[in-house]
Amino acid sequence: MTRAAPRFSEDEQVILFEGDCLDLLSRLPDETMQLVVTSPPYNLGKSYERKSALDSYLEWQDKVIEACIRVLHPGGSICWQVGNFVQAGAIVPLDIALYPSFARRGLKLRNRIVWHFEHGLHCSRRLSGRHETILWFTKTESYFFDLDAIRVPQKYLGKKYFKGPKAGQYSCNPLGKNPGDVWAIPNVKNNHVEKTLHPCQFPVELVERLVLSMTRRGDWVLDPFAGVGSALVAALKNERRAVGAELSPEYCLIAKERISQCASGFLKSRPMNQPIYDPGKAGRALTTRPTPHMRQLSLPEAFIEQGAQK
Ligand SMILES: C[S@@+](CC[C@H](N)C(=O)[O-])C[C@H]1O[C@@H](n2cnc3c(N)ncnc32)[C@H](O)[C@@H]1O
Repeated sequence: MTRAAPRFSEDEQVILFEGDCLDLLSRLPDETMQLVVTSPPYNLGKSYERKSALDSYLEWQDKVIEACIRVLHPGGSICWQVGNFVQAGAIVPLDIALYPSFARRGLKLRNRIVWHFEHGLHCSRRLSGRHETILWFTKTESYFFDLDAIRVPQKYLGKKYFKGPKAGQYSCNPLGKNPGDVWAIPNVKNNHVEKTLHPCQFPVELVERLVLSMTRRGDWVLDPFAGVGSALVAALKNERRAVGAELSPEYCLIAKERISQCASGFLKSRPMNQPIYDPGKAGRALTTRPTPHMRQLSLPEAFIEQGAQK
């Protein structure tokens, strides 16, 4: 099942390559991958990357993108998930900077999905960043997309047409509604059930939505920057095949462990479409605090009553 495979084999179910993604990509045959889904380093100087000039970072990304397009099936999709490059407090949205690498090679942008989450750095000189994006490109016009596989519950399932030829019939699709292009999915921080020591891992449910709608059972899913294997397990969990590259031996080890847990049905993951935890509704004490007035003065009750009568 799991192995650091020196070469690609159609007989495998999962291949984790410990090494450079360009090296792995050079070993993959043309047009075999149904979905490429990844979150590359953002060139921010995180523990797993070396910060370089923006131009050289974009040139390197361009090479990886070119190689991914070569291995992509004509009916396949590429989902490139990125946030901002930041320099001296100025942001460069990487989806804007990377869009030409895809468009120049004839890929069609189908959606720019906004991934919204609640937790992250608190900024003081700009608004705190609470979204990143996924650019979804297809190689051709005849691409595979199964909307029914990812529909979400309707708000008003009992609603009916009130006039016209369909008057009295239910107006909502009983299979659910299109999830739209703004996805509120918790990012993987300390309290998340999927948290490992990787600082920026994908929530499995985010990748599952892409896998379920853009691939069929048995198709290949590729993540060239596999990290701790979140995209690979999202694929395996849904009976797809998965291949990924990761430079860090430490992350590879965790990815292997998660792949084994997935194969034996013990992988911890947040279920798709589970409502977002609301501490207020859950009655958690930390959602309120005494007003500063009450806390600091702690006035005698008699005095408060007297004051209230005035
Ligand atoms: C943003 S993280 C991806 C995390 C991943 N989505 C997950 O859920 O764990 C980017 C990863 O790319 C890896 N990486 C950086 N350069 C690489 C390269 N040239 N080839 C393969 N992996 C690389 C880093 O070690 C890091 O784990």
